[in-house]
Amino acid sequence: MSAPLLQLDIQAKQFARRLVLDRVSLSLAAGEVVSLVGPSGCGKSTLLRIIAGLDRDYQGQAQILGEPIRLHSRHVGVVFQEPRLLPWLSVADNVGFELGRRGGRHPRVAELLADVGLADWGHAYPKQLSGGMAQRVAIARGLFTRPALLLLDEPFSAVDAFTRMRLQDVLLAAASHSQASVLLVTHDVNEAAYLSDRVLVLGRNPGRIRGEVRVDWPHPRQRGDARLARAEAEILALLDDREDAPQPPPQAAPWPASLARLRLAV
Ligand SMILES: Nc1ncnc2c1ncn2[C@@H]1O[C@H](COP(=O)(O)OP(=O)(O)O)[C@@H](O)[C@H]1O
Ligand SMILES: [Mg+2]
Repeated sequence: MSAPLLQLDIQAKQFARRLVLDRVSLSLAAGEVVSLVGPSGCGKSTLLRIIAGLDRDYQGQAQILGEPIRLHSRHVGVVFQEPRLLPWLSVADNVGFELGRRGGRHPRVAELLADVGLADWGHAYPKQLSGGMAQRVAIARGLFTRPALLLLDEPFSAVDAFTRMRLQDVLLAAASHSQASVLLVTHDVNEAAYLSDRVLVLGRNPGRIRGEVRVDWPHPRQRGDARLARAEAEILALLDDREDAPQPPPQAAPWPASLARLRLAV
């Protein structure tokens, strides 16, 4: 069998003495869309930073296409929560930035701008864009090198619900056209179910994978599909953090058998 696109086996990731990720293993096949959901602070961004090659200070192994992960790999594109566009460059030059200041002239840029619905915006500047449009540009830039894997860290959390739904569809279409797999961190259970083939649920203290929910029917999907609601319920059940979950009220302590007999006797 060929090597998976991504193979990650983290034994331990610590910050100072604090264990943040504990035995986290995951693999991704080519073409998959996988989401990571989990409470704040459970290590989702840390995990993405390791996969992006930005953090090498951990115990374990991470491979992409059978090779150890390294920084600035062309196999990996990254989209952050904020678009992080360079304000002095045009939209097109931001997308083609990998090739330098005039990268916007590369034919791939026009193709990607069309994929994200901004075909006419190449000459515009970031300050002319809405938040949703800027994030479309960030998706196009993330796909510029034709990465095998696109990583996204809560990419749509700053936009309104309607824009968010549009961006989800833009992401799926653009990633699929570029034949990129997607690994996405999101807080939004509905978004995770709608977009993904698999949803990995992480718990915290330390961060561990609690379980996986498969959402295994093809796109396009209907947002009101009852199967999505069922997948969301499964994700929520896995997310239910025992420490935070409401505890049942304490039961009256049972009488010890000997005392109970005594009570009956009096
Ligand atoms: N550079 C760092 N130095 C020390 N602690 C960090 C650093 N980055 C993250 N952490 C801690 O590691 C834990 C996981 O962080 P993070 O991966 O950002 O969580 P998430 O993205 O799931 O909210 C948090 O407790 C956070 O405070
Ligand atoms: Mg985070």
